[in-house]
Amino acid sequence: MSASSTITVDDKQIDLPVKTGTIGPHVIDIGKLHAKTGVFTFDPGFTSTASCESKITYIDGDEGVLLYRGYPIEQLAEQGDFLETCYLMLFGELPTPAQKADFDYRVTRHTMVHDQMNRFFQGFRRDAHPMAVMVACVGALSAFYHDSTDISDEKQRMIASLRMIAKMPTLAAMAYKYSIGQPFVYPKNELDYTSNFLRMCFAVPCEEYQVNPIFARALDRIFILHADHEQNASTSTVRLAGSSGANPFACIAAGIACLWGPAHGGANEAALKMLMEIGTPDRVKQYVDKAKDKNDPFRLMGFGHRVYKNYDPRARIMQKTTHEVLGELGIKDDPLLEVAMQLEQIALKDEYFIEKKLYPNIDFYSGITLKAMGFPTDMFTVLFALARTVGWIAQWAEMIEDPSQKIGRPRQLYIGPDKREYVPISQRG
Ligand code: SDX
Repeated sequence: MSASSTITVDDKQIDLPVKTGTIGPHVIDIGKLHAKTGVFTFDPGFTSTASCESKITYIDGDEGVLLYRGYPIEQLAEQGDFLETCYLMLFGELPTPAQKADFDYRVTRHTMVHDQMNRFFQGFRRDAHPMAVMVACVGALSAFYHDSTDISDEKQRMIASLRMIAKMPTLAAMAYKYSIGQPFVYPKNELDYTSNFLRMCFAVPCEEYQVNPIFARALDRIFILHADHEQNASTSTVRLAGSSGANPFACIAAGIACLWGPAHGGANEAALKMLMEIGTPDRVKQYVDKAKDKNDPFRLMGFGHRVYKNYDPRARIMQKTTHEVLGELGIKDDPLLEVAMQLEQIALKDEYFIEKKLYPNIDFYSGITLKAMGFPTDMFTVLFALARTVGWIAQWAEMIEDPSQKIGRPRQLYIGPDKREYVPISQRG
């Protein structure tokens, strides 16, 4: 690829520099395009637009490859744990045993939230969607932790990062407990990160709670799969919010709000509801036909992806984890899994899905697993947000530490009315 590309605008040719990365598509740097030609580029869904340079995550959508700091997701999910992935995201290298022990210790001792946070929950209806609760409570953290909101201070950025990673499970568990009218369960430092979360969700004061190690391992792996995913909608939201200098807690709250949408992180909840609505394998065909009907807004939730035009590598690991969890529960023929497997088989052989390169994504199987573990459907996206927090905070920190960083401020193609004179209301209509 040459070092520059030439563009002609109104018979005027200009050269634009081409930047190359370690792997993946090169980019044409259009930073000076408007100054030199007076035109903007136009790419509303950012289908061909890179918003930043990043060293954190690489996706090859055609090959179905996902790397965190260069390590394949399959190896991290199989051989490591979620806090190791968090360390890798934040520091760029896998931790030594001593670094891992220190990191686990530090995260563990940030898991409690200010006890006045409890009063926040009292203001919500018990049937409030837990994502609404999370947006509110995570944003409110900036009201409690004034000693880690100065983004120009590296130490404060790191404390805020550790606090976010550590407190998300506690807040998520509190949102769940509040929704079912059970008392909050405080974190226990002797438990690992994911076991601690399971206990805060499912323990009750009346008896000791034993964490199921198969569930803990499966959920920890699910968190690894969801940790980061390049410049997706919610990560881009966090970066844009952070580019104005907003504090990290507020930026993460913005990311949670964006993730909630059914086209994004809300798809795991929507996918399970879709499987439940289909109900039985014999009804799958009619829903596949609905998804193909251009006049029908219905889409197969958990299918398709902006980047993956091959199988989402996370979906493969997710499917394997689903079988592990159902096996542990002795569930041989889960009706939802039957429907999902049938749906996948029919869709992957269907010309429409083949031509549009639509494959199951991470959200297709995750709901079945989480439901089998005992989580209600409206908690699925909360778990996605819990895991994605480390990706958001790592991408936010990378942006803040980028010396060329400036406030994000896209332009537009204006198609509204031309300039016109004001008409006093006495002279209208
Ligand atoms: C996540 O970006 C990320 O990395 C996100 C994520 C992450 O880790 O952060 O991976 C997490 O958000 C996964 C995606 C979860 N969403 C869903 O499962 C919702 C269902 N999927 C679709 O809404 C859709 O596939 C998107 C939103 C995921 C991607 O949409 P695009 O890239 O904008 O593609 P598109 O909507 O332009 O679709 C291309 C074509 C269209 O047909 P035409 O208009 O060209 O005729 O494919 C069709 C779409 O109608 N299509 C589908 C479909 N998804 C796309 N048709 C039926 N069912 C579907 N699921």
